Amino acid sequence: MKPFVKWAGGKTRLLKEIEQRLPADFDTWEDVVYVEPFVGGGSVLFHMLKKHNNISKAVINDINPVLMHAYQKIKQAPMSIMDTLVALRNEYNGISADKTREEFYYRVRKTFNEMRFEDEQKVAFFIFLNHTCFNGLYRENRSGDFNVPHGRYKSPSIFEEENIMTLHNALQKVEINCGDFAEIWNSLENNPTFIYIDPPYRPISKQVTMFTLYDKSGFTDFDQLRLKEICDIFGNRGCRIMLSNSDSYDEDISYFENLYNNGYHISRVEVTRMINPYNSKNRKPKEVIITNYQPPQ
Ligand SMILES: C[S@@+](CC[C@H](N)C(=O)[O-])C[C@H]1O[C@@H](n2cnc3c(N)ncnc32)[C@H](O)[C@@H]1O
Repeated sequence: MKPFVKWAGGKTRLLKEIEQRLPADFDTWEDVVYVEPFVGGGSVLFHMLKKHNNISKAVINDINPVLMHAYQKIKQAPMSIMDTLVALRNEYNGISADKTREEFYYRVRKTFNEMRFEDEQKVAFFIFLNHTCFNGLYRENRSGDFNVPHGRYKSPSIFEEENIMTLHNALQKVEINCGDFAEIWNSLENNPTFIYIDPPYRPISKQVTMFTLYDKSGFTDFDQLRLKEICDIFGNRGCRIMLSNSDSYDEDISYFENLYNNGYHISRVEVTRMINPYNSKNRKPKEVIITNYQPPQ
């Protein structure tokens, strides 16, 4: 079971570190509700659903409507997008000349931007573009058009029928929301709840801001404060919470220590990123992992 899209800030490389820091008795909890307010490509969600059978319900959210529409479609009617995906994949992978492939990509991108949001096939076009565009980025111009250039991969896998059906089955116990992270908390019940929070990266330095460019609005330090308040509220209600973010030690070593200064535990791990924000071999980016409980180890 793996994500159906590549996503900026995807956590596949951090899964081991996340798994090691789950509450020590996590697997003894019953009827767990798993919550992810910034789900992105869902690498952590799908890992948790596969590995931990005691999760009886998950609640996910992201501010990106095209992405969340794709989750809905795969949950409710995966077969309705399969034919279009197969046709797009076959045509694209069947073209050998780079120039012709590129032209095909830009035609698909244009059609995608002209489609109405509700259009059945928009999700198939979205998945195709995600795997053939540059670095799997999702970026829109001022008029809301997807504008990422062609990625030039030799034979991108685009999708696997079997994986989509596995995700379809896994998503049956997942409630899918789309909006600001502050809007989803009403749907939480009294079950033991684990919340994994992976917001857009706080810029590492003033010069490096590309990691905040997930959507038009950006994610500011004011949003970090709003998020911290929510963590306190749900922590006080007994939820176990884990957050990850890029370490902003470049300028402001204590940003997260200052913000999460009331009983949270903070650790740092080195990560390999496709795009190294320092652009230097000597400085590997680090990720902070913050928990509102003492992690094992
Ligand atoms: C670091 S990514 C999450 C990556 C995810 N963990 C994965 O493995 O793919 C952050 C996500 O937050 C979303 N986002 C940005 N601002 C948001 C907001 N105010 N509320 C909810 N989601 C938001 C972005 O669309 C993006 O998908």
